[in-house]
Amino acid sequence: MRKTKLHIIFIFGIIMAFACDSSKFSKEMITELKVDSLLQEMTIEEKIGQMNQLMNFVDSMPLDPYFYDLIKQGKVGSAINVFSPEMIQEMQRIAFEESRLGIPLLIGRDVIHGYRTIFPVNIGLAATFNPELVMETAQIAAMEARSEGVNWTFAPMMDISRDPRWGRMVESSGEDPYLTEQIAIASVRGFQGNDLSNKNSIAATAKHYVGYGAAIGGRDYNTTLIPETELRNIYLKPFKAAVQENVASIMSGFNELNGVPTSGNVYTIRNILKSEWGFKGFVVSDWASIKNLQVHGYAKDSLDAAQKAIQAGVDMDMCSNYYSENLKQLIEQGIIEEELIDDAVRRILTVKVELGLFENPYATSENELLTEKALDVAKKAVIQSTVLLQNKNDVLPLSKNNKKVAVIGPLANAPYEQMGTWVFDGNEENSVTPLAAIQEYLGADRVNYAPGLEISRSLDKKGFNKAINAARNSDVVLLFMGDESILTGEAHSRAMLTLPGSQNELIHAISQLGKPTVLVIMTGVIHMVEPYLKEVDALFYGWHPGTMGGPGYVDLLFGLESPSAKLPMTFPRTEGQIPIYYNHNRTGHPPSDESWVKMYDIPVKAWQTSLGNTSHYLDFGFEPLFEFGFGLSYTEFNYSDIKLSKNVISNKDSLIITAKIKNIGGVQAEDVAQLYIRDLVGSIVRPVKELKRFKRVRLNPGEEKIVEFTLYPEDLKFHNGEQWVIESGEFHVWVGNSSKASLRSEFELK
Ligand code: GLC
Repeated sequence: MRKTKLHIIFIFGIIMAFACDSSKFSKEMITELKVDSLLQEMTIEEKIGQMNQLMNFVDSMPLDPYFYDLIKQGKVGSAINVFSPEMIQEMQRIAFEESRLGIPLLIGRDVIHGYRTIFPVNIGLAATFNPELVMETAQIAAMEARSEGVNWTFAPMMDISRDPRWGRMVESSGEDPYLTEQIAIASVRGFQGNDLSNKNSIAATAKHYVGYGAAIGGRDYNTTLIPETELRNIYLKPFKAAVQENVASIMSGFNELNGVPTSGNVYTIRNILKSEWGFKGFVVSDWASIKNLQVHGYAKDSLDAAQKAIQAGVDMDMCSNYYSENLKQLIEQGIIEEELIDDAVRRILTVKVELGLFENPYATSENELLTEKALDVAKKAVIQSTVLLQNKNDVLPLSKNNKKVAVIGPLANAPYEQMGTWVFDGNEENSVTPLAAIQEYLGADRVNYAPGLEISRSLDKKGFNKAINAARNSDVVLLFMGDESILTGEAHSRAMLTLPGSQNELIHAISQLGKPTVLVIMTGVIHMVEPYLKEVDALFYGWHPGTMGGPGYVDLLFGLESPSAKLPMTFPRTEGQIPIYYNHNRTGHPPSDESWVKMYDIPVKAWQTSLGNTSHYLDFGFEPLFEFGFGLSYTEFNYSDIKLSKNVISNKDSLIITAKIKNIGGVQAEDVAQLYIRDLVGSIVRPVKELKRFKRVRLNPGEEKIVEFTLYPEDLKFHNGEQWVIESGEFHVWVGNSSKASLRSEFELK
């Protein structure tokens, strides 16, 4: 054993020595030399070991002898969600110092929106429309995670989500492929940096490849039926961008796509991802999704499932053991070539070399957690992710001179819940709740607190009286409602989207007092909020905000900062409108205000065709409650004077679009200027609007700026089901601060 390892170290040393003095060896070439030299030393069992990821069920030392032996025999390539840094070190020590070849482990973890410092849930980070900020959150998460020995995260998730019934919308960046793509790129950059071997970098994972968010009925894990045009123009887009950003790994999904499960799908993985796009990283299955091939009815037994997964191009098996149990047999029976195994192992070892694990697989533990900088970024993320949906009677921002403020609701003081779903390493002790932050800001003596309901699902109204009295004895009422984090996320979809429990009744009871009332909804999913708009003056949508929820809300509520977040997903008026999203096709019977005769206005014996034959609902029309890209500010922005550098372009030209944006209100604030296009006629019908650019603009009261965007031919391409095309014809282009932007110009592509 010692001989072999010395042999490996010797070879690595030779490679490094030789390469160091001749600059013609690129980093990639050195990595390739190392990986190939290692591969030649490996037995088939050791190769298959690298493709095997295990869950360590026990976190307390000493390591279970079963796992100890597996790692020592080189039968484990990665461990997942090991929650004790001490255990991580021990597992790495065994792999690196006791196994025959000393190949370190990939230590994978769901570091989804923070590690110890918890940022808003991802749908909230998307609402910032601020990729630079999202990158900062990923950088901090990577630094904190790596310091405790984690070197790989299963993020960013980039599933396009058009259905708010889907509980995992909380992890997504919403309904738009461009916004999702920009957030995905920023997240990969943040996690990976520009050198994976840096002690502040961890390998990222683009997931869940592909189309998982199109689950029929919004029911998690359900069937997805996606035509090639939608697959290419919507669902694959963020993944292609992540691959171009050199994401280290891709996670295949749980969903069956057009009859073929994505974790056994040759077309999407081997053909598109690895061949067409030239993806060089590795593909990891989702949790036992290789085993699920049997459950789907796509594989008849574990041998068949392992065969289908490896042939599809899944390189690592997350926790089903199907690879470790079957791959050797598949080779011995000549059913699969050993080259498939070598390719998978090469990909996995390449990431391990790039991470610098052969030089040092151990935690750096130099990085501090929960630094002041991390908490500042976390607070900024809360401020820029919380969407102001209504502000009647200018009740906001609140004055600090309010003598008494009532703080009511089951989420007002819920430090664990406000962290949101997918939090393994955050501690509720570090959370600053809205109650604590408001008491800190105003002085506890000026705050009347009453939860009103014990938890979001409580039906017991015994706490109502105390809450109503707290409100009655106050000048202004702040309601913090929403969901426990467990009501969002994986496997947690819902058919009805009203707030759970007796929250509706509590909001109604408080609204009867006629006090200035602000409702903050803290959740990870979209609720039907139309009924509340009549009952409260102001409404904030505060996606589970993480560690600094309270301080971020205080700055918004009391006007230290103006809201600037925008909706990354359409808010329906009722579940019956779902799916409803802004970038829809026009249909041959597009609805309009004129065409919709409201159901209760329809005269008796109305003539069959008297109601207009357009695509709307008799009872709920066709408009959402709030559109994609919408969000209020404490000031107002006016967009004017849109100009194009040309009105006719060829498919070689770029196009510059400018517009004036003016702050016509009384406070300094940021807006998110958004640019949309519409391709009026195509060889397949094109969406009525498509977001193509956005940028944040900060303006003082009265200040005016020119906002400038550049479009390239690449932005006008689409896949017509056969190939990528760019077609001549007329385009509309809008600039504004929501998908209802009306400032429009036109250009022609010749
Ligand atoms: C889960 C999720 C995936 C996660 C993985 C590891 O089932 O689908 O997003 O990264 O398993 O926890």
